[in-house]
Amino acid sequence: MHLHKYEKIWLVFGLGSLALFLVVIGFAAFWKGTHPQSHIETIDPQNIEANESFKPENLGLTEVADGKYVVNIVASAFNYDLGKEEDGSPTKTIRVPKGSTVLFQITTRDVVHGFQVAGTNVNMMVEPGHISRYETVMKNDGDFTIVCNEYCGIGHHLMFGTVEVY
Ligand code: CUA
Repeated sequence: MHLHKYEKIWLVFGLGSLALFLVVIGFAAFWKGTHPQSHIETIDPQNIEANESFKPENLGLTEVADGKYVVNIVASAFNYDLGKEEDGSPTKTIRVPKGSTVLFQITTRDVVHGFQVAGTNVNMMVEPGHISRYETVMKNDGDFTIVCNEYCGIGHHLMFGTVEVY
């Protein structure tokens, strides 16, 4: 079979692109640790407090074992409820030691929000009726900004927080 020169170029281009994309996906999944969050568990968005993890007193950071933490978060327009400071005021900062394993569990009361911890591999979509979960190891120290990366309304840019790894 004779292949025209341009056919060969396009074949090489097509197969090359496919190979390149597979390498990019493999790099993201196996090297950077990027995986889709779990969408298995559902929740009633009208009655979030019925779920043990999202009762007001259980929001925010909890150390569950040595070096292992759970962070329960409720997103709503236009705020992340990250729990309270020791004086009872709402906190905007989650503080964990470097090398900690942190499980983020988040749900929303109203519309679709995002939950991205910039500079880490935490990047979830938060949908009403679902609990989004993602576990990661905080390998680097520093301040990492939490941002909402799904446009959720007029106060979208007001949704932020910080993960402080020390
Ligand atoms: Cu919440 Cu954008």
